[in-house]
Amino acid sequence: MQRTLIFETVNKISENVIINGWVAKVRNHGGISFMDIRDRSGIIQCVCMERNIEVNTENVVEIAGIIKKRPEKMVNPKISTGSVELEIKKIKILTKSLELPFPIDTDGYELDEEQRLKYRYVDIRRQRLSRNLRIRSQVTTYIRNFLTERDFVEIETPMLTKTTPEGARDFIVPSRLQKGKFYALPQSPQQYKQLLMVAGIEKYFQIVRCFRDEDPRADRAYGEFTQLDLEMSFVTQEDILQLIEKLFTSMVLKIFPGKKISQSPWPRIPHKEAISSYGTDKPDLRKNKNDKDELAFAWIIGFPLFMKQTKDDYFHGSGRAKFAPSHHMFTAPHPEDIHLLDKDPLNVRGLQHDLVLNGYEVGGGSIRIHDPKIQEKVFDLIGFSQNQKEQFKHILTAFKFGVPPHGGIAPGIDRLLMVLLGEPNLREVIAFPMTSSGQTAVMDAPSFATNNQLEELGIKIQDTEIITDLYDRIVSLLKEKKVVFHVLDHEVVHTSKQAAIVRGTKLSEGAKALILFADGREIMVVIPADLKLNMAKLKKYLNAGDVRLAKAVEVKKITGIEIGAVPPYGKLFNLPLYIDKRLFENNNIVYNAGLHTKSIKMKANDFKITASGVLGDFAKSEND
Ligand code: AMO
Repeated sequence: MQRTLIFETVNKISENVIINGWVAKVRNHGGISFMDIRDRSGIIQCVCMERNIEVNTENVVEIAGIIKKRPEKMVNPKISTGSVELEIKKIKILTKSLELPFPIDTDGYELDEEQRLKYRYVDIRRQRLSRNLRIRSQVTTYIRNFLTERDFVEIETPMLTKTTPEGARDFIVPSRLQKGKFYALPQSPQQYKQLLMVAGIEKYFQIVRCFRDEDPRADRAYGEFTQLDLEMSFVTQEDILQLIEKLFTSMVLKIFPGKKISQSPWPRIPHKEAISSYGTDKPDLRKNKNDKDELAFAWIIGFPLFMKQTKDDYFHGSGRAKFAPSHHMFTAPHPEDIHLLDKDPLNVRGLQHDLVLNGYEVGGGSIRIHDPKIQEKVFDLIGFSQNQKEQFKHILTAFKFGVPPHGGIAPGIDRLLMVLLGEPNLREVIAFPMTSSGQTAVMDAPSFATNNQLEELGIKIQDTEIITDLYDRIVSLLKEKKVVFHVLDHEVVHTSKQAAIVRGTKLSEGAKALILFADGREIMVVIPADLKLNMAKLKKYLNAGDVRLAKAVEVKKITGIEIGAVPPYGKLFNLPLYIDKRLFENNNIVYNAGLHTKSIKMKANDFKITASGVLGDFAKSEND
């Protein structure tokens, strides 16, 4: 029988169905089991009248049963399936779940965010978050349809590229093929979309990731965020404003029918007036600031082309020139003010437009310079050296091949959704956001590169603060995870047997970390020190043709450490980790912590939790 989605059950009274999902709640009393089952479409109450069913919350189950109408007074108006219940005939537990690290039946704001991000896949089960992600998808789908119906072409532009400054620091990526050189991740596709205009595309858009290394705030992501990037040829500023106004007004009507837009057409406020009347260039124009359904869109126009440059503006002339672009260096000066470029640059207005919503800047754009002479002039005014100008030569060259007048805008998708969904920060509308200190959710990046990787890239880490020695890294990992451990200082040891003697621990408590190559891939296998590696079983488990132990020089190259001192934490070296189960037959484990003279002793179970390895059968005794 085919699976029925939970929301469809209301139309299947008296029918036999199969549902799949997670156990949200179980109540067993007096030989009757009640449980709530959740799938992507909703939640339903299931009952078994004959017996208690042993099942834990968040187990994944398949239930076969019959849909029954609930008696009038048992109807639950809070859920869409409240008028029915499923009488369980057969239940199959497909997978089990550990106890969740936090509850998921609340809105989650009360929880520690670090924990929520660490177990983001659990956090997203929460209704608020999964709804946010579903609405986000509806919004981007709406935008795609709206624009493609109007002849826009969605085009992907490179991620490994050259700097495109938008006022932040670049993320750079080292090149292996051209050692010593780096790509920059784009702060926006600004230059590529202008090149696409030269290419005759005329109407371009892209829902695209942008990368900026800047200090995070509630409305500013560190690292990456998403823009609706858009560019058009042969247009005026008016055309761009009208298009976006129509797009977002109709999108709100369709996807957020409960919201009301305070003023239509959206007010247009000259920058000077915004500053003098509201003291900000992103005023909150809601009539009632307590109304969570009010949306006050506004355009801010007539920005000055330049601001005075500050020391923090490290990119544009490194704070040495007088002027910095108010938007970016490709924004066109107002035609009436071009004559002021030489004598009074600070009084030149730019053809910039910012989109403001409830006090947030949710988009920015401009009509662009298409005259290479004016572009050069702007480069000079913002203090570009000859060398910096060289970096943008391709744009000036392209403009010599027939460039149409063009302009565009880039609304920020995360910021727009944050306001539309009434969320307090951007992370609530992003599936796997970074923490404010730049740590990724779940995956714990950034992490150290292996010596091998660095060598291949021709990179040497110079800063001794950064190459904190491995021992410190282990200690900080254990402290971060709040693990209790003991440090044992001892004489130099090179083998597990010597180590066990000087530490006064059992040989079987020793965790021996072996580095191997499995079909050329570096891995770490950890086994109890009294056992030997079971190569045959490992090979079978990995389904690998060729598995061999790394030689001493290779171990040194991969880990930076001498054989005999390598700690059993594969993640410190970016190595996938395989742990033999018998290690947990003892209460404690002990291992050399990066040095021949220092060991760490801790609970075996704490090791299991902190090491994130695969458990299996990878060892054998001498006699096996
Ligand atoms: P700008 O730099 O103004 O313009 O960016 C456009 C919009 O992107 C959003 N945004 C951000 N959202 C979250 N986190 C961030 N760190 C972040 N930075 C920016 C904002 C902002 O309004 N290339 C130009 C656009 C153009 O001229 O067409 C650009 O990127 O909502």
